[in-house]
Amino acid sequence: MNAERFELRNARYLAADYLSRLVFPGDTVIDATMGNGGDTLMLCRYVGPTGKVYAFDVQRAALDSTRQKLCEAQMENRAELILAGHETMDTAVHVPVQAVIFNLGWLPGGDHTVTTRTETTIEAISKAVKMIVPGGAVSICVYPGHEEGKRELEAVETLIRSLSVKEYTTLQHVFLNAHEGTPRYYLIQKNRNGRGEK
Ligand SMILES: C[S@@+](CC[C@H](N)C(=O)[O-])C[C@H]1O[C@@H](n2cnc3c(N)ncnc32)[C@H](O)[C@@H]1O
Repeated sequence: MNAERFELRNARYLAADYLSRLVFPGDTVIDATMGNGGDTLMLCRYVGPTGKVYAFDVQRAALDSTRQKLCEAQMENRAELILAGHETMDTAVHVPVQAVIFNLGWLPGGDHTVTTRTETTIEAISKAVKMIVPGGAVSICVYPGHEEGKRELEAVETLIRSLSVKEYTTLQHVFLNAHEGTPRYYLIQKNRNGRGEK
């Protein structure tokens, strides 16, 4: 029986829906943009008590609010919160992971000048696609409603188009009748052996 009837809402909702089918108990995953911890908490639920979530952010305020959220849900043991840029993920995480998720932009309710930056975003996604296991995925919400977000959108698309079709299957969701700055969603899945024919 279905848990909840699907509703076409927004990029974050699409991300949560895909991840609920990609991430299972016992998995190791990365939240590349921790923010206020909503996504970290969701991943902690999906990986269960035997899994692990590595979460990154460059702002201490993000770690503080995420830690509080996880403690309230009694899930703090499932996550390691790392005060560092996601472009360093390969130095902090030494195991292959099932998923890496990016929710780009700035901390909701926080300083809008501390937004994700195109160069480091691209560096991090390039590392993420190498760190996922076959069948694993990189999930990306992009916010083109501001200048840096527009640059990120172009660079993310260029990177994704350059990926080998033999190695990865990729997808873009665009809300066609929404305003131009509406967030877009990208999913990259690493093919299992023998997959990749389109
Ligand atoms: C849109 S928010 C993330 C929202 C979050 N996933 C949630 O559920 O609340 C984007 C976050 O990326 C963080 N950020 C900016 N540059 C970063 C970097 N290089 N590495 C990791 N996080 C970064 C910002 O500080 C901000 O908290």
